[in-house]
Amino acid sequence: MKERLESLKEEAEALVNKVSDEQGLLSIKARYLGKKGEITSILKEMGSLQPLERPAFGQLVNLVKDSLEKAVEERLIFLRKRVTEEALKGEKVDVTLPGRRMPVGKRHPLTQVMDDVVGIFTRIGYSVADGPEIETDYYNFEALNIPKDHPARDMQDTFYISEEKVLRTHTSPVQIRTMERQAPPVRIIAPGSVYRCDSDVTHSPMFHQVEGLMVDKGISFGDLKGTLKIFVREMFGEDISIRFRPSFFPFTEPSAEVDIQCVMCKGKGCRVCSGSGWLEIMGCGMVDPAVLGFVNYDPELYTGFAFGMGIERIAMLKYKINDIRLFFENDVRFLNQF
Ligand code: PHE
Repeated sequence: MKERLESLKEEAEALVNKVSDEQGLLSIKARYLGKKGEITSILKEMGSLQPLERPAFGQLVNLVKDSLEKAVEERLIFLRKRVTEEALKGEKVDVTLPGRRMPVGKRHPLTQVMDDVVGIFTRIGYSVADGPEIETDYYNFEALNIPKDHPARDMQDTFYISEEKVLRTHTSPVQIRTMERQAPPVRIIAPGSVYRCDSDVTHSPMFHQVEGLMVDKGISFGDLKGTLKIFVREMFGEDISIRFRPSFFPFTEPSAEVDIQCVMCKGKGCRVCSGSGWLEIMGCGMVDPAVLGFVNYDPELYTGFAFGMGIERIAMLKYKINDIRLFFENDVRFLNQF
C-alpha cells in the first residue's frame, strides 16, 4: 500500500507539472485529492493493515496530500502568471502618459454674475440677507407701501398661491424682513430668485434680483449715487457713465431708474439701446418713510436708500446676450462660454 501511495504521488505530481491550463489542473486535483479521489480513497483501505501500522500510514497519506496540494497551488500561480504575460505580450505601457482628467464643471453664468454683484457690495461693507420665495402678501406688497387695490400692483404680474400667499415678485420683501429683525444701522444685499407671470426674449417667469438696503442716521441721495457709481465702475468698467432718471416705486421717495451708458455703442446710439445711448439697469430711491413706519423705525431719526437690479439683465448686457431663454436651456455649448 505504501508503494501504491508512492506511485500515486509521483503520477499526480507529474501530471500537475505538465498540465497547461487551470481547468485541467483543477480536474487533476479532484481526481487525486477530491472526496472520492484516488489518494483520499486509500485511507479506506487501511482496514487491511495491522492496527499498529495504521496511525503511521494515516500520517503518511496526509503528508502526501499536503505536498500535492502545495504543488497544485504553485502550478496555479504559475499558470495564472503565464496567462497575464501572454496577454501583455507586445503591449507597451507608457508610464509617462498623463492621467485621464475628470471633467470639471463651473458656475452657471447667472451665478457668476450674482456672485460678482454680491462680491462688490460685501467688499464695501454690506452683508448678505435672504428671505423665502413663497412670500406673504404683507411682505411682498403691504409693508412695502403697496396696499390692496393700489394700481401699483399691476406693475408686477403676480403668481398667487392663495389669497394671502404669492411667489415673491421682487427681492424687496427682504428689506422688511431684515428691518423687522434688527435695529439700524442696516447695510444688506439680498440676492435671490423672483417670479412674474411674463415670458419673452427679455422676460422669464423666474429670474433673479439683487436687492440693496442701507438705513442709518443721515443717509442721503448722495450716498446712494456714490454707492451705485462704485458698483457700475466695478461691474462694467471705469469708462462707463451713469445717470439717474426720475421714476416711481411705492416704497421709495424719491425714486429713480439707473441707466448706464450703452455697453455696445458707448453712448452713440444703437439697436440695443434703441438709439438713446443709455441702458436701464436698476430701480432705486430713498426708503419711503411709510415703509420705515411699518418696521417701527423712527423716520424722523433714520433715512435710507434701496435699490434692486435684475441679474439676467446685467448678465445680458455684460456678455452681450440677446435672448434670456439661453440661460435656462442648459445647453453646454452656451454655458461653456463663460
Ligand atoms: N423692487 C423693484 C422692482 O422689482 C426694484 C426696486 C428695489 C426699486 C428697491 C427701488 C428700490 O422693480
